[in-house]
Amino acid sequence: MLCVGHMQPVSQDIPHSGAEPAPSQAPGPLVVVAGATGYLGGQTVLALHKAGFRVRALARDPAKLAQIRHAVHEVFVAEATDPSTLQGLCDGAYAVFSSIGLRQLGRRPTFWQVDRDANIAIATEAAHAGVKRFVFVSVHGAPERRGINPLFEAKEQVVDWLVQSPLQSTVLRPTGLFNDMQELFDMARAGRIWVFAKGEARVNPIHGADVGERVAQLLRQDQPAAAVDLGGPETFTMRQIGELAAQALHKEVPVTSLPLGLLKWGARLLRPFNINLSAMMSFFYYVNRWGAVADPVPGRSLRDYYEELART
Ligand SMILES: NC(=O)c1ccc[n+]([C@@H]2O[C@H](COP(=O)([O-])OP(=O)(O)OC[C@H]3O[C@@H](n4cnc5c(N)ncnc54)[C@H](OP(=O)(O)O)[C@@H]3O)[C@@H](O)[C@H]2O)c1
Repeated sequence: MLCVGHMQPVSQDIPHSGAEPAPSQAPGPLVVVAGATGYLGGQTVLALHKAGFRVRALARDPAKLAQIRHAVHEVFVAEATDPSTLQGLCDGAYAVFSSIGLRQLGRRPTFWQVDRDANIAIATEAAHAGVKRFVFVSVHGAPERRGINPLFEAKEQVVDWLVQSPLQSTVLRPTGLFNDMQELFDMARAGRIWVFAKGEARVNPIHGADVGERVAQLLRQDQPAAAVDLGGPETFTMRQIGELAAQALHKEVPVTSLPLGLLKWGARLLRPFNINLSAMMSFFYYVNRWGAVADPVPGRSLRDYYEELART
């Protein structure tokens, strides 16, 4: 059963690993992490904890915090898409980080309800609570392409809201995260890599931990940048990423190219039936059409990430 707007101190309800100091002893400023049950939010929780912050994690299902529970000071159980459940989420917090965003492709809820409305609801709660700082995760290239892709538009409407709010905000716009690159790895493991447009689009993907460490740095700065584009240390074509995955698995994997038009026309045809699927196809169209390369941040290598996956 979901306990709406309910706070769970970790020390009472969620055992920590014992390998690290008990989070309740950490003296640092309190940061609310929305999206903590996801890839980037989870990595950010770990980085903030390591940097000495206390973390209050927002979760619909606290069981999904199991792997990072040692780094979580408090759990706030609520539905981000239902603002009435968020009351008290940000009380006493110095900052809020949100990487909430839709990844499922069913018809409901829509990305408007999650990527835009839920994030604005969290930011509204932060502003009411007098929180100083807000870090929001958008997508690389979103400001330039917001008019042509609704997913970018939904993210950037949150940025518009933040800019006119009393919150001191920083918008992070990462390129591909390593968990998205896992899809190419999974294809390689399954025996065939599918790419679009010959796999020529270029991207410098970034590990979530490198983004999380940047968040911790930003929260320590007095005058942080209003927006930060983030990419990983190495730039690859999509085909090269597939080949890297195959190398990590020590196998030959055929690469098959699909026409880019499939994504473009698929997105248009599906729009009246499933806006989430349509927007995601349109998003992949733009990524495969223009690539996603941002200023590189020194950090973890994709080869190491794949080799680790290959060992599991
Ligand atoms: N992955 C990439 O390559 C990439 C690249 C650039 C930008 N981004 C952006 O970065 C953000 C985080 O990405 P990620 O890879 O960490 O995603 P993720 O692993 O799917 O995490 C998404 C988070 O959003 C929450 N969420 C999703 N639907 C929700 C709903 N209906 N109600 C409440 N919470 C909901 C999830 O909670 P539950 O666990 O409860 O579902 C989870 O905590 C996204 O906004 C994405 O657009 C991602």
